[in-house]
Amino acid sequence: MTFNDRSNATASPKTVLITGCSSGYGLATARHFHEQGWNVVATMRTPRKDVLPESERLRVLALDVTKPDSIAAAIEASGPIDVLVNNAGVGAIGAFEATPMSTAREIFETNTFGVMATTQAVLPQFRERRSGTVINVTSSVTLARMPLVAVYTASKTAIEGFTASLALEMDEFDVRVKLVQPGYGPTTSFTSNGQTRMQGLIPEPYTAFAERVMADFQQPTVVTHPSHVAEATWRAANDDTGQLRFPAGPDAVALAQYR
Ligand SMILES: NC(=O)c1ccc[n+]([C@@H]2O[C@H](COP(=O)([O-])OP(=O)(O)OC[C@H]3O[C@@H](n4cnc5c(N)ncnc54)[C@H](OP(=O)(O)O)[C@@H]3O)[C@@H](O)[C@H]2O)c1
Repeated sequence: MTFNDRSNATASPKTVLITGCSSGYGLATARHFHEQGWNVVATMRTPRKDVLPESERLRVLALDVTKPDSIAAAIEASGPIDVLVNNAGVGAIGAFEATPMSTAREIFETNTFGVMATTQAVLPQFRERRSGTVINVTSSVTLARMPLVAVYTASKTAIEGFTASLALEMDEFDVRVKLVQPGYGPTTSFTSNGQTRMQGLIPEPYTAFAERVMADFQQPTVVTHPSHVAEATWRAANDDTGQLRFPAGPDAVALAQYR
């Protein structure tokens, strides 16, 4: 049987398509679903085969969630999928006053409109088959307020509301829509990938405050490991209880309990 061959649907493993698999939570999630026996379409802006195992159940495809043609080409090349994981995301730490609106729009293009566009591209096949799950990766910033991440929080909070409403709408067609809310993960490339975007976002009046905030950040008691996010995403993909939110990592789980 070739990758994602549905000719013998009862015997074929399920297929997950994950965005942003070049590093961090997306890469760990791709590895985890593969280890569990699923077909994995690991998508990246710049495809790199060397970060994932060689396997006939694993394909690496190009996908930039800000580009409609790229989304369409990746969905077409994937064939039928069972689960979409919208993991790709970008961030920026900085004072809102100093954040150019072009940067705010750039963050929303990936974290918010990219998630919506990729979701919209898979819904027709899910609705027609009356099965499928969309999992949107947000953040624990939606669980507890944090300073200096106003635009990032806005981009992720928009997806929390979007997902909660869409879940009700797609329930009519037996399609599931879920949230994974990771905590702070210092081992991913998230901060280094945001460095250029963050230049100049802490102007002088904010430096003392930002130093205090960053000092707290440097000494977290518990953090999220990519494996926590992979496991929470796996639970969300296999959940049939109607649970909407899956906090991922001990810090996110604790924050969710306090809400
Ligand atoms: N690390 C944290 O503290 C943390 C906490 C809560 C939530 N999250 C969320 O978790 C998700 C994964 O983040 P991470 O920590 O694993 O960071 P990461 O290592 O930087 O991974 C983010 C991934 O998103 C990809 N990406 C960025 N823009 C894209 C685009 N336009 N189209 C497709 N892919 C794109 C990146 O690909 P390139 O290699 O091409 O840049 C990268 O593979 C994000 O949604 C993030 O907001 C992270």
